[in-house]
Amino acid sequence: MPRIPPTLFRHARRINPLLPSLLPVCRDLRSSQNELRWLGEHAAEVASKSGQKHETLLERYVHRRAKGEPLQYILGSEFFGDLEIKCRPGVLIPRQETATSVSHLAALLSKAWKQSPASKPISVLDLCTGTGCIPLLFQHELSKQSPGKDAIANIVGVDISSTALSLAEENKVIQLRELRTSASPYAKTLHLFRNIHFLQADVLARSGPSSVTGRLQQIQTNRIKPSYEIIISNPPYISSSAFRRTTAASVRRFEPKLALVPPSTDSGLFPSGSANKQGLDDGDIFYPRVLEIAAECDAKVVLVEVADIEQACRVAAMADGWHVEIWRDDPAARGESGEEYVGVGGEGGRQVRVLGTGNGRSVLFTKGNWIRG
Ligand SMILES: C[S@@+](CC[C@H](N)C(=O)[O-])C[C@H]1O[C@@H](n2cnc3c(N)ncnc32)[C@H](O)[C@@H]1O
Repeated sequence: MPRIPPTLFRHARRINPLLPSLLPVCRDLRSSQNELRWLGEHAAEVASKSGQKHETLLERYVHRRAKGEPLQYILGSEFFGDLEIKCRPGVLIPRQETATSVSHLAALLSKAWKQSPASKPISVLDLCTGTGCIPLLFQHELSKQSPGKDAIANIVGVDISSTALSLAEENKVIQLRELRTSASPYAKTLHLFRNIHFLQADVLARSGPSSVTGRLQQIQTNRIKPSYEIIISNPPYISSSAFRRTTAASVRRFEPKLALVPPSTDSGLFPSGSANKQGLDDGDIFYPRVLEIAAECDAKVVLVEVADIEQACRVAAMADGWHVEIWRDDPAARGESGEEYVGVGGEGGRQVRVLGTGNGRSVLFTKGNWIRG
């Protein structure tokens, strides 16, 4: 990383004495100025509500940011597609690439519905929901693309962390309140957010009261086998060695490791009776379990996020009896080289279509005539 010249620090100080502290984290003057403006606006908003001094708040925020804390934790929110999602330390900050995949899935589904309209709302399960960003955006995107529908999806977001779940509930309330008071064209779809629920369960547990199907059965009054047509999941997928080698220092220091790195068998955190880790890459252990849950719930579509094209290929090779596609960061974009295929599963494996441009970002599994990218 190139060093920042002292002249730039002096120039920054002349513009605003707080700017030089932001230069090392932001790396250039323009980004530092932008961040200082956003922190200033946030300080003004908090000051007006709390009666605290604007200057004191701003200095405190700049100090936190200078220590590498993500801007989203200080400002308290991040944009995710059209939605502003509340963020808080202890829960992963939603990423734009996730929003792009989720919106693309909603667009494909809406297109399929235009050809053959659904007779009832679909059921969607979001495993490892964090802030609840995926259920909220998915419902929003479906309602945006199919206006006038009364009930589009019933969505359950699942997480093991009670900190994440209480933030997810808050985010749902915030979206309901925003729509109720706004002149947004989507305000009509306010009631659809009421069809989103959050549930505490352990995705890795195969059976028992804390497993996903165990918890779903407990909340269903009829106790029948849970049925979900669509499963979406952005699980922890970074191996411990990649976590040390490849993640940014601010991610390692400030974002929850629980959200990023699957438990290892040696940590004692890996629960007994959970998915068999044998032969799996450290970062991949959630995927077989997500596919098992998909089979238990009779799902027809599964979309999982991955770190890169290598992990996408390993995950794509895990499923028998599914049609599989790999999506890059922007799955709707056309790559320059035309149709792209990649071999998965080694010798005797199969060719899988890769869509879009950017890094390998997600894997789509479908059954029957359900959507294709
Ligand atoms: C990569 S984050 C994804 C959060 C959110 N879906 C998003 O896209 O921003 C993974 C989430 O999985 C949750 N998690 C970790 N282990 C889990 C488990 N065994 N069962 C259920 N959720 C788990 C974490 O608490 C975290 O919220």
